[in-house]
Amino acid sequence: MTCRSCHSVVRIFRMPVDKSPDRVRRMFGQIAGRYDFLNHLLSLGIDHYWRRRTVSLVPPAGPRPILDVCTGTGDLALAYDRAAGGRTRIVAADFCHEMLKIGREKARRAGADSRLTFLEADAQSLPLPTNAFQIVCVAFGLRNVTDTDRGLAEMTRVCAPGGRVAVLEFSTPTRQPFKSTYGWYFRHVLPRIGGLLARNSGGAYEYLPTSVGEFPQGEALLERMRAAGLAELRRYPLTLGVVTLYVGMKTAP
Ligand SMILES: C[S@@+](CC[C@H](N)C(=O)[O-])C[C@H]1O[C@@H](n2cnc3c(N)ncnc32)[C@H](O)[C@@H]1O
Repeated sequence: MTCRSCHSVVRIFRMPVDKSPDRVRRMFGQIAGRYDFLNHLLSLGIDHYWRRRTVSLVPPAGPRPILDVCTGTGDLALAYDRAAGGRTRIVAADFCHEMLKIGREKARRAGADSRLTFLEADAQSLPLPTNAFQIVCVAFGLRNVTDTDRGLAEMTRVCAPGGRVAVLEFSTPTRQPFKSTYGWYFRHVLPRIGGLLARNSGGAYEYLPTSVGEFPQGEALLERMRAAGLAELRRYPLTLGVVTLYVGMKTAP
């Protein structure tokens, strides 16, 4: 299978990653207790910086609430709460009960539980009003949603006209030699360490590089955001392109 001449054949017949809601929910439920620890360890703590950059590039403005979908344990929602100085209501939505439970506890410890509402909901059909939020964001979550376009359409629907949709997601660095070194770490080292430490049977850390490889990046993702009804699209590669922040504005009601 490693033979160069076979490579293209193998790629053609490779099965797409299983992103069915049950599988994804179960997988995150199994690793919830170790998710934060592994996140910070495997990113060498840089994930905090990525969320801070998201908040500074798409800062809170105005009285409307903020929505963080696929919030997991709530780190981006909490980063927005800090940036808004506690003046803005934040809804943190996810369909994995175990992840939300940890998020709620973190919000309680941060004294933010009166401002953050944790909502158990599928990003593809949000039980939330249209045109309601000044910012609708997602970090490392859209890639896991079964139907990317439906997820983007829902995020756009609940965003207020003039508001922004922000997607923070892994991407593939393009500059050598970093591209090769990081690619080796991401495909071979990270899944092993993650698998050993997470001790889950759902293969969450093998799923990570595969799902990133299949997910649209760069202009391709901006095109999907445009199709969802967003304009003034920008992308900001961070940390040599390890992740990218994609931002669009909702112009029409
Ligand atoms: C990799 S975690 C990201 C968590 C968090 N945003 C962060 O930055 O660490 C992905 C999260 O997306 C959630 N998720 C995946 N598909 C979802 C869907 N269709 N609806 C709601 N949540 C979903 C998972 O339950 C999981 O908590």
